[in-house]
Amino acid sequence: MNNFGGNWTENKIEILVEYAKAYLTIMNKFAVMYNWELLYFDGFAGSGFINKGNRTKKQIIGAAKRILEIDEPRAFDMYYFVEKETEIALQLKENTKSMFPSKNITVVNTDCNEKILSMSAFLKTKKGKKFRALAYIDPCGMQLNWNSLVSLQELNVDVWILVPTGMGVNRLLKRDGRISDAWINRLEIFLGMKKEEILDHFYSKKIVTTLFGDELVTTKEEKAIEKSEELYKKRLKELFKFVSNSYVLKNKSNSVMFHFLMASNNKFAVKVANEIIAKYNKI
Ligand SMILES: C[S@@+](CC[C@H](N)C(=O)[O-])C[C@H]1O[C@@H](n2cnc3c(N)ncnc32)[C@H](O)[C@@H]1O
Repeated sequence: MNNFGGNWTENKIEILVEYAKAYLTIMNKFAVMYNWELLYFDGFAGSGFINKGNRTKKQIIGAAKRILEIDEPRAFDMYYFVEKETEIALQLKENTKSMFPSKNITVVNTDCNEKILSMSAFLKTKKGKKFRALAYIDPCGMQLNWNSLVSLQELNVDVWILVPTGMGVNRLLKRDGRISDAWINRLEIFLGMKKEEILDHFYSKKIVTTLFGDELVTTKEEKAIEKSEELYKKRLKELFKFVSNSYVLKNKSNSVMFHFLMASNNKFAVKVANEIIAKYNKI
């Protein structure tokens, strides 16, 4: 069982499930017409159940189980779940196989990035071109590598991504710009950008005259969380034709933790995603 979450966890899953139902409704017709197979890929799958971690110990049903429960108007043809923690992967395997014995489910215990690359390679093969995929990338931190997303460009895949703008990027961007090499390296891999580009985007530099002469002062720009969302979206638009608006996930003190959005090469898909997101942003 995973321990994390709040109302936004539930809303995020509701958004995904609502979108998956709309996706399956639209794809139902085309899959028959063009002989397509529908693949669901979950890169950070969890156990299938989430413990909210508060005093009530309320358990919510994780995205994996919610997606597997969808049968109307149709189910996916294949489900591929990736989970890095061995014990959680085993729980997911047991939960899903016992509850959905007739579905074509694969659970792998490895790193999501490795399997996104495998999925991209597959979707480019002759057999893979007959597949349409819906991917859910739901990390708790900055585990998604930019290169993994690059591999998906131009493919027939709709990708929902939880972007750790507040919980990840903003936390690594220290006020004075003195960021450790390890953190810079993580930012570079996450954003697919070089150190200098990242620092230029998030920091301003100016010469300040002090008692001991001129000093170069580095200052973090205001609204770094919003800036990281804009940047991520701009970068995604270089890979996918369309990127949705974001569902904004805030904690109890109203601080932004994550942005949840979808990228696709299909205009209509993003229109549908935006309608769902707009509804949940008002809640
Ligand atoms: C936010 S939780 C997933 C919740 C789940 N998607 C849901 O909505 O029910 C993130 C999960 O990703 C797993 N994880 C962390 N790093 C990973 C990686 N690099 N590759 C695959 N799984 C990873 C964690 O063990 C954790 O179970």
